[in-house]
Amino acid sequence: MLKFNSKLILSTSTAAALAILTVGCMGNTSTDKVILATNQVNGKATIDGGNIYPVINGKTGPYYVNPQVKAIAPKLYNGRIPTANELAAWDKDVMADGTGLPEGSGTAEEGSDIYDEKCASCHGDFGSGSGTYPALSKGNAYEVHKTLKNNRWKDPEADGPVRVFGSYWPQVSTLFWYIQDGMPHPFSKSLTDDEVYALVAYILNVNEMKIDGVEVDDNYVLDREKFLKIKMPNRDGFEPNIAGPHALDDVRAYYANPANFGGQKVKANERCMKNCQEKTARTIRIKNGGIKDFLPPLSDVRDLPAEKKGSLDVAAAYENSCAMCHSNGSGPAPGSKSEWAPYLADGKDSVYDKGIKGTNSGMPAKGGSSLSDADFKMVVDYLINGK
Ligand code: HEC
Ligand code: HEC
Repeated sequence: MLKFNSKLILSTSTAAALAILTVGCMGNTSTDKVILATNQVNGKATIDGGNIYPVINGKTGPYYVNPQVKAIAPKLYNGRIPTANELAAWDKDVMADGTGLPEGSGTAEEGSDIYDEKCASCHGDFGSGSGTYPALSKGNAYEVHKTLKNNRWKDPEADGPVRVFGSYWPQVSTLFWYIQDGMPHPFSKSLTDDEVYALVAYILNVNEMKIDGVEVDDNYVLDREKFLKIKMPNRDGFEPNIAGPHALDDVRAYYANPANFGGQKVKANERCMKNCQEKTARTIRIKNGGIKDFLPPLSDVRDLPAEKKGSLDVAAAYENSCAMCHSNGSGPAPGSKSEWAPYLADGKDSVYDKGIKGTNSGMPAKGGSSLSDADFKMVVDYLINGK
């Protein structure tokens, strides 16, 4: 191979061209051999003998470089040019209009078996999710979709919106694409097209979804034609509208104009450290008529329920956390009003402050309690004003 390359040296004029050719040749030649020799690593298929995440003791290890590839092409394994096969394997986008969606078919029942074997360990039974692994269903997608209208700025007690595939994703093509490209972690790219169809059918099934009015039950055979008829409940829930064959151009046009989304225009062609945004730009308050016909309406309010006031039982807090030291007329801690008087000479804020931080002469910080600052102060008032 080196001889082959030195012939190239003679026929090329610049060092740069040589470098590209050399890398190209070595990459292809060496990995072509690897295809035959090592497209199984630890018993798992890899594309062209490339990189995998090994599983050791049931845990996913760090990114792992196939040592055989490394040995053959030591300088190239890091940042080498992908082979044609690798490129083809990754360049399989599935778009909403069906571009990239392969032919194939599978039933929800088949999908259920594959799911139990390859997915349930992370995503839970019936896609319910487990630990930090995302749920793939929270029940009937059409019902769960309604929770997207829950807003805590309207009702602090409301449950938040539930965003899972069935309720939230606007396009089902993303599901096919995601599973085909990324799952099952860490053995992505190991599923056949039919298996992906079966898994999609199963996930539709546990989301209780319909295609063209027909429930996706166990025996439903999902194929390309039916797949293209799937309408997600939240397909119109996004602004800008990302559906349709011109989606990408529409989205670009939408974001080209900051006024569409409450953004501000940054001064162009001018170096600038402050006041960089043009004066004419304005921030649209989303709640008051910014983005129109947006469902659900966005909130510009902190997404936490308001703290309940007056929920602290002051007397109980005193009994639990302070009484053992602060009871009247006994021990080193002030109890009666007259005992408090000298402490209050510096003002109440100082008393609060020392109580919160603790003192060297016997008062533990907040009395060792886990009261919030505000609640602690209420208990202090209770102590000072006489229980
Ligand atoms: C070893 C754990 C693991 C296994 C096994 C696994 N997944 Fe995942 N999956 C994940 C993790 C982690 C994420 C989230 C990745 C992220 O958000 O970056 C995820 C995300 C997903 C998502 C996107 C969910 C969302 O709402 O964002 C889908 C769909 C999915 N997996 C399907 C599958 C399918 C189908 C299988 C079986 C063929 C599978 N997964 C097997 C770990 C796993
Ligand atoms: C383990 C005993 C102990 C407990 C429990 C305790 N205190 Fe005290 N506290 C003391 C002592 C002793 C002092 C006097 C410290 C000093 O003289 O510096 C004191 C002083 C204080 C002071 C005055 C600080 C200053 O120097 O101005 C406040 C306020 C106070 N306690 C509040 C509380 C409250 C409220 C609780 C219950 C939530 C509590 N303490 C629980 C022992 C305790």
